[in-house]
Amino acid sequence: MPTVVAADACRHARRQRLCVPIEEQGTSEIRGPVIDDTPLMQINGVGSFSDTMVTHVRNAKRCPLARKRQRRIRGLIRRGQRPWVPEMNEQAKHEAIVATGLTKWFGDGSTRTTAVNSVDFVAHFGEILFIVGPSGSGKTTLLSMISGILRPNAGTVSVNGDDIWTLNDDQLADFRLNTIGFVFQDYHLFPRLTSAENVAIPLILKHRDWKESITAAGKYLEVVGLKNRGEILPVKLSGGEQQRVAIARAIVGGPQILILDEPTASLDGDTGRMIIAFVKEKILDQNRCIVIVTHDARINEYADRIIHMEDGRITGLDKGTE
Ligand SMILES: Nc1ncnc2c1ncn2[C@@H]1O[C@H](COP(=O)(O)OP(=O)(O)OP(=O)(O)O)[C@@H](O)[C@H]1O
Ligand SMILES: [Mg+2]
Repeated sequence: MPTVVAADACRHARRQRLCVPIEEQGTSEIRGPVIDDTPLMQINGVGSFSDTMVTHVRNAKRCPLARKRQRRIRGLIRRGQRPWVPEMNEQAKHEAIVATGLTKWFGDGSTRTTAVNSVDFVAHFGEILFIVGPSGSGKTTLLSMISGILRPNAGTVSVNGDDIWTLNDDQLADFRLNTIGFVFQDYHLFPRLTSAENVAIPLILKHRDWKESITAAGKYLEVVGLKNRGEILPVKLSGGEQQRVAIARAIVGGPQILILDEPTASLDGDTGRMIIAFVKEKILDQNRCIVIVTHDARINEYADRIIHMEDGRITGLDKGTE
């Protein structure tokens, strides 16, 4: 039986790259975290613990924290005590993103612009959260910080219980690849790759077979209404079509957190609604969270909650209109 620990209980091991996500180990049949046959959830009870964040310590002997924890647990078991701590807080279990005091400025001295100013918010698994606000209010900057793209000047972002800005560059890259699907406001498609190749990138980066990835990409292109457009280069697509390729690329890997920056800006009302309805019906589930920045009031009906931003601050919070 391999030693399995919760990711957030073993930062040290992860920093030393002793831990890797359990899926990469091909050991996903281990359903819950265990140490020496004892369910870890009972041992750790860490507030932010999530059983989807299970990692496998390749070599527990090299990890002082894992060794210490094992010694403590074995001691408790030897003395006939149950290594039990209270269940994790129910609410914490459902928090997908927790941002606190998030701040980002650009420039220095008299040219300094504070794009995002001490923003706190929580996004939950199972919800679609919209962020709305005037141009320049800091929406894209906020999204970039919660998805591991842009380092904040102050504040923390915890995704799935992990403080993402304490991760090193490799871990951040893994996080962006495995946990986040991002649709950029200006698409960011690779001009020399076909639509299908663009969509297949996340799968290829996850070492999936090339042909299998292109086939999966074709299916997602069909989902966004671009069947038979897989062979075409982005430059030959309209803005709305490029946006749909970017959406297909963001969802092809089934990310836990899907972040869309103005996903319907170049789409007509019907196509925009159709895509957001698809995302809500087919992508959202209790283990996923979707954050959408939009100016498009036509899709407000799909929001569970709406955060309003102005001048880098959150100025209001509404329930969705559905
Ligand atoms: N890389 C950058 N360098 C300097 N200033 C920046 C940079 N990125 C954003 N800003 C500034 O930060 C502020 C917020 O920009 P941001 O792109 O986050 O706004 P936004 O709400 O997404 O706007 P829009 O609705 O037009 O996309 C703006 O004043 C912008 O000029
Ligand atoms: Mg923007």
